[in-house]
Amino acid sequence: MHFPVTRLRRLRSHPVIRSMVNETTLSPDNLVMPLFACPGEQVKNPISSMPEQFQLSIDLLVEECKVLYGLGIRSVLLFGIPESKDEHGLTGAHEDAIIPRAIRAIKKEVPEMYVIADVCNCEYTSHGHCGTIVNNDVDNDLTLETLARQAVVFAKAGVDMVAPSDMMDGRVARIRESLDREGFSQTPIMAYSAKYASAFYGPFREAADSAPQFGDRQTYQMNPANSNEAMREIELDIEEGADIIMVKPALSYLDIIQRAKDNFNIPIAAYNVSGEFSMVKAAAEKGWIDGERITLEILKSIRRAGADIILTYHAKEVAKWLVNEKKI
Ligand code: PBG
Repeated sequence: MHFPVTRLRRLRSHPVIRSMVNETTLSPDNLVMPLFACPGEQVKNPISSMPEQFQLSIDLLVEECKVLYGLGIRSVLLFGIPESKDEHGLTGAHEDAIIPRAIRAIKKEVPEMYVIADVCNCEYTSHGHCGTIVNNDVDNDLTLETLARQAVVFAKAGVDMVAPSDMMDGRVARIRESLDREGFSQTPIMAYSAKYASAFYGPFREAADSAPQFGDRQTYQMNPANSNEAMREIELDIEEGADIIMVKPALSYLDIIQRAKDNFNIPIAAYNVSGEFSMVKAAAEKGWIDGERITLEILKSIRRAGADIILTYHAKEVAKWLVNEKKI
């Protein structure tokens, strides 16, 4: 059947029928808000390249969690800015490190908040790379040790889920083994499986003070040109025991999200990263785009591609828009 019998505009003619045939929804249930924990008290350092995002000391981080929970954002992803750094990143992997302290504080004051912790060394190493350096490159197998140690420390502090973002080979299996051995067989792993060596992380590296001091991350993060390789990464992470796999960044990688959804029966997360956030904010500030509409459109496109979960700095404002305007 085709025109003039078929007219697709019939089902676009009225708001009620438009919502009845709406295929993709976005709710605070799907969103995770990333937060940056820093030392001190009453510290709220604005991140200049990310409007309305802050490095927060733990006391204020807890307050922010209360606000987020009230708005319907029931999960946060934590990154840490430590007091000091070392060659291996071990300043992030002991019981009194910034993230374990933040986890304990949130769990004490807002126990219903689902706390996810990013597991990586780049915030804690003096050179800014994601692991231990040998011969000018990150040594894979040595780095597995520090990652597993960090994951166990976070689990002991009461984290609900760990999210390794380092891209070392074999880290999911290694973290799973260590968590299980220490009695945390119920702690899920959300693996940053297809994580690309992307320029979209620029603003984050200011936020987390984690820019590499030499070279780049191309020997461990993926080449943006590759899609088949992403499927291999995802397959391996699932075999190693990942509970959720992630594609990162999101917006330039919607094809990867969709391919993952079509090929694997596992929940998929997508990280709408710092550069994606900052581009929208900068253009909206200039009045060149409608920031709110574009944000909702972007997040919906990430869901439409196949993401069940979106990690996004927009989470808080989106929740507010939803509460106030029932826009979606
Ligand atoms: C740590 C990590 C990064 C991001 C999340 N975890 C930075 C990087 O790999 O350089 C990026 C998040 C963002 O840009 O919002 N390895």
